Amino acid sequence: MKLTIASVLLAFNLASYSSAGTILPRWGKTLELNSCRGDASGAAYFMTNEPTGNYIIASDIGSDGKLNPRKAVYTGGLGGHANNGGGGDGLVSQGSIVVSSASNMLAVVNAGSNTISVFSFDPSNPTDLRLVGAPISSGGEFPTSVSFSKDGDMLCSLNGGEINGVGCFKVNSTLIAPMTQTQRSLGLNQTTPATGPPGSASQIFVAPDGKNVVVSVKGMSTSAPGYLAVWDIINGTLSKDFNTVPAPSGGQTLFGIAPIQGQQALILADPAIGYDIMDFSGQNRSTAVQVDGQMAICWITYSSKTGNYYMIDAGASRITEVNVDNNLKGNTVNNYSTGNNTGPLDTAIATIGGKDYIYTLAARQTEVNVMSLDGPGQAQIVQKLDIAGPASFVGLPINATNVQGMATFSKP
Ligand SMILES: *[C@@H]1O[C@H](CO)[C@@H](O)[C@H](O)[C@H]1NC(C)=O
Ligand SMILES: *[C@@H]1O[C@H](CO)[C@@H](O)[C@H](O)[C@H]1NC(C)=O
Ligand SMILES: *[C@@H]1O[C@H](CO)[C@@H](O)[C@H](O)[C@H]1NC(C)=O
Ligand SMILES: *[C@@H]1O[C@H](CO)[C@@H](O)[C@H](O)[C@H]1NC(C)=O
Ligand SMILES: *[C@@H]1O[C@H](CO)[C@@H](O)[C@H](O)[C@H]1NC(C)=O
Ligand SMILES: *[C@@H]1O[C@H](CO)[C@@H](O)[C@H](O)[C@H]1NC(C)=O
Ligand SMILES: *[C@@H]1O[C@H](CO)[C@@H](O)[C@H](O)[C@H]1NC(C)=O
Repeated sequence: MKLTIASVLLAFNLASYSSAGTILPRWGKTLELNSCRGDASGAAYFMTNEPTGNYIIASDIGSDGKLNPRKAVYTGGLGGHANNGGGGDGLVSQGSIVVSSASNMLAVVNAGSNTISVFSFDPSNPTDLRLVGAPISSGGEFPTSVSFSKDGDMLCSLNGGEINGVGCFKVNSTLIAPMTQTQRSLGLNQTTPATGPPGSASQIFVAPDGKNVVVSVKGMSTSAPGYLAVWDIINGTLSKDFNTVPAPSGGQTLFGIAPIQGQQALILADPAIGYDIMDFSGQNRSTAVQVDGQMAICWITYSSKTGNYYMIDAGASRITEVNVDNNLKGNTVNNYSTGNNTGPLDTAIATIGGKDYIYTLAARQTEVNVMSLDGPGQAQIVQKLDIAGPASFVGLPINATNVQGMATFSKP
C-alpha cells in the first residue's frame, strides 16, 4: 500500500490518542472545553502557565455569576516558574493576565519564553479570543505582570528576571508595537527564572490619570523593606529614572496593588503583615496595617458595589474584606474561608446584573472559587468550579503549582 500524505496525517492523528484513551493536546489550537453555549453576561480568564505551552482558560459568566468553562486558548508562548521553593504562585506576581474593557483586549505574560501575547475580542462573545499579530518580546526576562492604560491603547509590562524592568507597547485590535523611550531598568539583582518571593518584582500598574507607571517590589527583610518604583509618563515616554517610594514603617513585602477610590493613594497587599496604605496626596497618612491571623495576603481587588477591598491570603485560604475611610484608615469588615487547603491566588471582580461577584483562583485544588458579594460584609460562595476535569477531558496539561492569574470582562 502506498502511503499518501492524507494517510500519514490520519496515522498521526490516531497516534495522538494514547492507549489510555486520553487525547494529547493539539498544540497551537483553541480547545473547546464545552461547546454548549448559554447566555453569557461576561467572561473570566486565567492561565495554565505550563512550561510546555501556556493556555488561557476562558469561561462564560452566566447571569447568576457562575462560570461555564468554554475554551482553552494557546497563547503561543511558554509558562514559567520562579525559584520559590517549588510551591504555587509560580510568577510571584499580580496582573499576569489583564483585560481592558475600554479596548476589548486581553494581555497575558509568557514568563518561560519572555513574551507577551495580546488578544482582542468582540464584547458580545468575549471567550472568542483573537491573537493580535504574534507574541512579542517583553523586552527583558521572566515577564510576570502587565497593565493597560485607561483607554486600553497602551500596555506596559514588567520583567522580573535577570534582565528586569518595564516597557510599554502601543496596542489595538490589529497591532502591537514597542514604544520608544519606554524600556527602563529596575536594577534588581535577580535571576531568570526570578528568585522569590523576597526581593522579587510584584506588579506593574499604569495610573488611570496616565501620569505614572508604578511597580511594586517585595522587600528582603524588615531591615530591607519593599518599595514602589514610580516613573513619570511624559508625552508617551517614561522618565529615565524612577522615584523610590519606600513601604510605610512596618510594611515590608509590597505585592498586589489597588488604587484607593477617590484618593491619591494606593492600597497594597503585604504578606509580611496584611496591607499597606500609601498616600501620595502629601498628607502623610501612609500606614502598614496588621491583619489578625494573616499568613500570606498577596492579591487585592476592589468592588465598586460594596465599596470595599478584597484581599486573598494564600496561606490561610481566606479572603479578608477591608473598608478604607476618607482619612485612609483601613478596617477589616469580615473574612471568608475559600475552603481548607485551597491555596487561593489571583482574583478579579465582575459586575453581573448590577451585583458584584469575586472570582478567585483556588490554585491548590485547581478550582475557581466564585463568591457573590451581596453587600458590605456579606460574601457567600456560589460555585467551586473544577478545572482539572475539563482540562484532562481534552488532554490539556494543567498543574496546581503552575496555574496563575485572573481577569474578568463584564458585558456593558
Ligand atoms: C492600529 O494602529 C495602526 C498604527 O497606528 C493603524 O495603522 C491601524 O489602522 C490601527 N488599527 C485599528 C483597528 O485601529
Ligand atoms: C546578587 O545576589 C547574589 C545572590 O544572592 C549575591 O551573591 C550577590 O552578591 C548579589 N550582587 C549584588 C551586586 O548585590
Ligand atoms: C510634549 O510634546 C509637545 C508637542 O510635541 C511639546 O510641546 C511639549 O513640550 C512636550 N512636553 C515635554 C515635557 O516634553
Ligand atoms: C509621618 O507620619 C509618621 C507616622 O505617623 C511619622 O513618624 C512621621 O514623622 C511623619 N512625617 C512627617 C514629615 O510628618
Ligand atoms: C478573621 O478570621 C480570623 C481567623 O478565622 C478570626 O480570628 C478573626 O476574628 C476574623 N476577623 C474578622 C474581622 O472577621
Ligand atoms: C477545615 O479544617 C478544620 C480543622 O481541621 C475543620 O475544623 C474545618 O471543619 C475544616 N473546614 C472545612 C470547610 O472543611
Ligand atoms: C506538577 O508540578 C510539580 C512540580 O513541577 C510536579 O512535581 C508534579 O508531578 C506535577 N503534577 C502533575 C499532575 O503533572
